[in-house]
Amino acid sequence: MDVKKGQVLDLRVTDIAFGGKGLAKVDGFAVFIDKTVPEDQVRVRITRKKKNYAEARVLELISPSPLRTTPRCSYSGYCGGCKWQFLEYDKQLEYKTSHVSESIEHIGLMKGVLVHRALASEKIFGYRNKMEFSCSDQRWLMPEELENKDIEKGFGIGLHAPGTFNKVIDIDACHIQPELGNQILNDVRDYIRQSTEPVYGLHSHEGFWRFLMLRHSASKNNWMVNIITSTLKKDVVMPLAEQLMECYPEVTSVVNNITARKAGIAIGEYEEHLLGESFITDNLGPYSFKISANSFFQTNTKGAENLYSVVEKYAGLTGNEHVLDLYSGTGTIPIWLSSSAKEITGIEIVESAVHDARKNCLDNQVDNCSFILGDIKDVLPTLSSRPDVMIIDPPRTGMHKDVVASVLGLAPQRIVYVSCNPSTMARDIGMLKEKYNLVEVQPVDMFPHTYHIESVARLERIEE
Ligand SMILES: C[S@@+](CC[C@H](N)C(=O)[O-])C[C@H]1O[C@@H](n2cnc3c(N)ncnc32)[C@H](O)[C@@H]1O
Repeated sequence: MDVKKGQVLDLRVTDIAFGGKGLAKVDGFAVFIDKTVPEDQVRVRITRKKKNYAEARVLELISPSPLRTTPRCSYSGYCGGCKWQFLEYDKQLEYKTSHVSESIEHIGLMKGVLVHRALASEKIFGYRNKMEFSCSDQRWLMPEELENKDIEKGFGIGLHAPGTFNKVIDIDACHIQPELGNQILNDVRDYIRQSTEPVYGLHSHEGFWRFLMLRHSASKNNWMVNIITSTLKKDVVMPLAEQLMECYPEVTSVVNNITARKAGIAIGEYEEHLLGESFITDNLGPYSFKISANSFFQTNTKGAENLYSVVEKYAGLTGNEHVLDLYSGTGTIPIWLSSSAKEITGIEIVESAVHDARKNCLDNQVDNCSFILGDIKDVLPTLSSRPDVMIIDPPRTGMHKDVVASVLGLAPQRIVYVSCNPSTMARDIGMLKEKYNLVEVQPVDMFPHTYHIESVARLERIEE
């Protein structure tokens, strides 16, 4: 049967694709259906037809899958934040594990690799230690709000609906952050609404209030409130900072990041420290880290401990090794491994991250880690000595091909590759296979209710 745009079909969803969409087949032809899970029986309309696949929208859920569960969040299915809340957590882990295996097989072209079942996140709600809420002068309306004439359409603070850059769902509770974050969000909303300054328009690029970023310390139960505005108006933001510090003893830091840049990124061109400390402190295992508003820190603290424990196990250190850590961020992996290696060198491109990494070593009395500031692509060819073990934790895009060539040139005995993107991980490891065996992969779930998955892979050099 030929699939055509606009066609209405009754389909049974049989699988779930990386990216979170349900997959059904029409005579072998793939149809991706948003907001569905395997074993759903659905009536859909084809919205897009390409050579090898089509996309469809659900018109009616004829018979729901037994794998469905009632989402805790009332915005589930509309908010771009977590798309899998209606899928049982156990099943989320199963599909995430298969996506890692499939990427290795289809993208990396490696068969029979041992992929362990994804390690569960200790918490599946209240796990995120950092949230960014956007302000907008255009509110995205939920279906039940469409008819309500009294709703204020020119104001919203919350998360984006998928596919919209300028509209936000006005969210009063996001369950993947700890509960107090929702009270802070609602207090900030009330304050902004009553303020004389307008919210920022993502279309017009005018207005004052841009984002609210909340950071939570899992070990201390402290909060940082970071208010992002387009200009500096201390008389406007300071009363809000005072109100939050007074109301919530848990709020120990309030800062104001200021950016006039058009890009929708919640990082200031500069920062004004308002009240309390300019950072929060969190622990990973026995180590403590000072985290400032714009530092990179894994967003699931307990999940990061799980992740780093797997990295440690796969690194197999005895205390005598020289370890090279590529993409070292604020030095969390080197510090985690410091007591089991002789020396560790990190390479990182962001100056403030390298500064934080050095400071974190001092604060934790770690003296065998050093950091090189620079682009790994340029730094690696200048290194002459071969490390015993290399840790590689690149951004989502993976490694530059010149970096892959340098890694092959240095040829350490063992590589531990850490990744938040199964596709680029599989591609990169595929390019290393002339010299390395991919022995095993452990997916680690840091992002419950999303289709994202972190993985750790162990590669051993093939002896000639
Ligand atoms: C996924 S984070 C890993 C951070 C760290 N390993 C951790 O667990 O917190 C990737 C890091 O790579 C850095 N980075 C990205 N491109 C880079 C490059 N070309 N050279 C050096 N570092 C880079 C980023 O600044 C970021 O800190």
